[in-house]
Amino acid sequence: MTALAANPNTVRITDVSLRDGLQNEAALVPTAEKGRLAQALWGSGVDEIELTSFVSAKWIPQLGDAEALCVLVAGFEHGPTTPLLSALVPNEKGLAGLLAANQAAGHRLIGKASVFTAASEAFTRKNINASIDESLQRFVPVIAQSHAAGLRVRGYISCVIACPLAGPVAPGQVAEVAARLADLGVDEIDLGDTIGAGTPESTRAMLEAVLGRLGPGWLSPERLTLHLHDTFGQASACVLTALAMGVRSFDASVAGLGGCPYASQPGKPAPGNLATERLLATLAGAGYVAGASAGAIDRAAAEARDILARARAHCQTGGAA
Ligand code: HMG
Ligand code: MG
Repeated sequence: MTALAANPNTVRITDVSLRDGLQNEAALVPTAEKGRLAQALWGSGVDEIELTSFVSAKWIPQLGDAEALCVLVAGFEHGPTTPLLSALVPNEKGLAGLLAANQAAGHRLIGKASVFTAASEAFTRKNINASIDESLQRFVPVIAQSHAAGLRVRGYISCVIACPLAGPVAPGQVAEVAARLADLGVDEIDLGDTIGAGTPESTRAMLEAVLGRLGPGWLSPERLTLHLHDTFGQASACVLTALAMGVRSFDASVAGLGGCPYASQPGKPAPGNLATERLLATLAGAGYVAGASAGAIDRAAAEARDILARARAHCQTGGAA
């Protein structure tokens, strides 16, 4: 019996700082620096690290070093708290990159492939240059090949509360996309409040719609995750609402990296993903437990801040620092 099954108050945490936290950062973070953050997270007790994305470097230059980062992390020592590694893949080309990284590592280094679409047509078009329908069609071979390679598959849905381009999103629309992803065979659905627009009330309405459509069997830490951005400081309150509804898996980012570009102003980046250290404090305050150690996460957050400070300073001096 796993610890998760043994204690119904145990919460699964995926740290997404290396992917969501860095993908919009203006200053390019060197691979070796990302390796330092990965190392700090590696032994922290988080259940999963979303390491990178196998996407076009023209679209997301910050994650253009996916292969090199995998080589670096493949050298880390394994132990009892070694986390699952996952990466985003938008299409078959992305999955081929992930599988090549695993082959180069000589083992299943990345154990989960994450496809991503949205509950908003406008956002899907802007993010991955496809309609929702087209994105789901792209996922069919990606999911089949991932499963054939022994990978789990996460299906992200962005804009589950609101879209930065089209405004509020109806809970029924989120439920519809979730049902279609479930029909395609994803193992897990991750509900993304991309711009941090959620309140406890809207989060509850969205979760009720999704769970009403998917069925209670999806209410498991391995199957349903909430991915909150903390743009308006509401993320912890939304976590508490979701916990009360039975959700036991959350994404977060150390130091709250990941300011949403749609919510940022020049020189004033918006707050980012829900900070992992804040999530841990919220969970502890409400009587829930997680595998991640608060001390180790605080150290990883400090590492993340240092790394970004160095990258930004280097960027400001035109690379001369
Ligand atoms: P496209 O331009 O329509 O793709 O982009 P294409 O198939 O026409 O190919 C164009 C070029 O990209 C070609 O290269 C392809 O080979 C290459 P060229 O011939 O011009 O040299 N290409 C690739 N290269 C590397 N890896 C690949 C790949 N695919 C094609 N996988 C595409 C379509 C999906 C590729 C593009 O739109 C893309 O990469 N988008 C990435 C978007 C992204 O990563 N967004 C952020 C993640 S989602 C998110 O943050 C939300 C989330 O956090 C939840 C939430 O908060 O809501 C998850
Ligand atoms: Mg996100």
